[in-house]
Amino acid sequence: MNFDEDIFEECCEMLAQRHYAVIDHFLTSQEVSDLLVGLENKYTQKKFKKAGVGQDEDLQVDAQVRGDFIYWIDPEKDFEIKRRFVPCMNGFMDYVKKEFFLPIKDYEMHYSVYPEGTYYQRHLDQFKKDDSRVLTFICYLNFSWAAKYGGALRLYTKEDDKERYVDILPEAGRFVCFRSDLLEHEVLPTQRVRYSLSGWMLNRKRSLKFLK
Ligand code: OGA
Ligand code: MN
Repeated sequence: MNFDEDIFEECCEMLAQRHYAVIDHFLTSQEVSDLLVGLENKYTQKKFKKAGVGQDEDLQVDAQVRGDFIYWIDPEKDFEIKRRFVPCMNGFMDYVKKEFFLPIKDYEMHYSVYPEGTYYQRHLDQFKKDDSRVLTFICYLNFSWAAKYGGALRLYTKEDDKERYVDILPEAGRFVCFRSDLLEHEVLPTQRVRYSLSGWMLNRKRSLKFLK
């Protein structure tokens, strides 16, 4: 994991120019393997839940919209995360705050598993009654991913008022970051089980209800 401020700077430059950033080799193979160990532990302990859409009383579980299973990570407790990932993200959060004067106070994150054949329809990472997500970040954990497996993250962008998109494969070590309030995106149907860690920088303290 790269604590190098050059990487943070590169990421912020990309964010400033086009509202998203993609950094390859953000995690080393060893770090990806360590995170996968954590993920698989929770998965075999049946701690993952079918992901929903919306929040609190609006929460709905609908496999037509998204087919992934998630586990909310406790950054203070989950061992594999605490050791290296948390210090790195704290550094990144401080850097981003300084660079953009964004009102970021905390972050929340979960592991995701997309079984074969699942996807996540086009959406924005904000809830109807809650605009606390400022930046989305995702680390991909899939070694030797090939385009034919599908499962790309499709990010919709605007250039000269025309809609375009970029497809980003969920290759191990790759880090993607984008403005949660601006960029719609989707996960295209995957032909293989697809692992990732998704997180959000928040303009409030994270809620503990996720950690049950
Ligand atoms: C999400 C999401 C994209 C991805 O969890 O909200 O859009 O590539 N994930 O996993
Ligand atoms: Mn999303």
